[in-house]
Amino acid sequence: MAIPDRTSAIIGRPLIRFDRVASTMDVAARLAALGSPEGTIVEADLQTAGRGRGGRRWYAPAGSALMVSIILRPGVSAARLVSMSLLAGLAVANVAEAITSQPATIKWPNDVLIDGRKVAGILLHSRTMGDAPNACLILGIGINVRVTSATRAFNATSLDEAAGDRVYVGDVRHRLVVELRAVYRAFTGGDLAPAWAELTDRLAYRDREVTIVDGERALRGMVTGLGENGELLLRRPDGVIQSIISGEMVRGPRPVAS
Ligand code: BTN
Repeated sequence: MAIPDRTSAIIGRPLIRFDRVASTMDVAARLAALGSPEGTIVEADLQTAGRGRGGRRWYAPAGSALMVSIILRPGVSAARLVSMSLLAGLAVANVAEAITSQPATIKWPNDVLIDGRKVAGILLHSRTMGDAPNACLILGIGINVRVTSATRAFNATSLDEAAGDRVYVGDVRHRLVVELRAVYRAFTGGDLAPAWAELTDRLAYRDREVTIVDGERALRGMVTGLGENGELLLRRPDGVIQSIISGEMVRGPRPVAS
């Protein structure tokens, strides 16, 4: 299989918009399989079967959120692939903060929060094609732009609520593309250190106690920072620093029953 040629890849070209799809993740995956170029963005005003992490649904009324999936073929090692969702979180946090003038934090691994409430979520699928350097990533991003019954029901927030002003989906997309291009340059070969420092600064619940739930396992500890591939570093009650590569962060000493 040919090594992906990234020399001409630009995130956001092409941009393919739909009024309504089941999930932009599926459309992007189909387009990727058909050979759509790296950087292709699939956007929908409405998803009828939008997906979140952990098999959950992700729903937003038509036009109330920016919902995109992006085709990436980064040509990096398998260990590095997962850090793309954190970097995408950084891009989204930068956009959210610029628009609302409110501090935005990143709840590991990939929720963006304003004032402790979720404003955006990220879903990263890896479609490995042969070796890891040929892997195709589908990066899904959902950003709440307007307050809706769904944001209220989940005690989430939106950019317009945080900004106290009207926010336009097109403006959010435009800013997101600019930020994503910058983090993607770092991800695919540039210097990741500045992005990592920013991410660590933006880490929600730093120096606070959390529980990480992963399937049947629950691990309690203090958030201390990030490892070199984006793993969460947790200081356990016995003082040992444990690095966590997957799981769901829950505030407080115990996992919340679902
Ligand atoms: C999460 O918070 O659990 C992740 C949410 C990801 C939602 C986005 S919206 C665009 C893309 N299409 C989907 O079906 N999901 C992602």
